[in-house]
Amino acid sequence: MTSVFDLAPETPVVPVVVIEDAADAVPLARALVAGGLPLIEVTLRTPAALDAVRAIAAEVPDAVVGVGTVVSAAGVAEAVGAGARFLVSPGWTERLLGAMRESGVPFLPGVSTASEVVALLEQGVDAMKFFPAEAAGGVPYLKSLAGPLPRARFCPTGGVSLANARGYLSLPNVGCVGGTWMLPPEALAARDWARVETLAREAAAVRVPVGG
Ligand code: 3PG
Repeated sequence: MTSVFDLAPETPVVPVVVIEDAADAVPLARALVAGGLPLIEVTLRTPAALDAVRAIAAEVPDAVVGVGTVVSAAGVAEAVGAGARFLVSPGWTERLLGAMRESGVPFLPGVSTASEVVALLEQGVDAMKFFPAEAAGGVPYLKSLAGPLPRARFCPTGGVSLANARGYLSLPNVGCVGGTWMLPPEALAARDWARVETLAREAAAVRVPVGG
């Protein structure tokens, strides 16, 4: 199956969206896409989330909309029913993993320890979210995992910013990074889509240094 890492390989930065009003979904997604971030993760943390996913899927064809904070099999079904093209979870259980596998769309179950990584590899899953990235050890931790567990590839999320994204993306075992830094609360409250587009453009310009 296609991995989340292959959905938009040129722009390996995933904006993590917490949406309060579904009416904001389309202009917000258009701003992110215009800034160069087509992969958009809408978190299942607000009542507006599924309507937002439906709206983006229907009206922003250049976006690849997925659903995050998926923590149950019911959440998987709701997300896919709304049009999610990928799924992300902060953690995983056998039940959740089974539902994600059956969904037919790429998924990133969450891990923060070596044992969780080993358990996922044992299940045949090698693409995972590393969460909460900064609090769980950040770049040095992921660097340490690359030796013993080279098959695992991560999307670090949680505390990732413009300042540290490049450090993560230069690691051989990182496929993308996720975060909210291009969606500051004050810009969302003001519906300042031009600001979101500018921040998205900055995020999309993060490039891995040559030889990094
Ligand atoms: C989350 O699930 O909230 C994401 O990991 C985003 O975290 P951030 O706000 O630290 O970028």
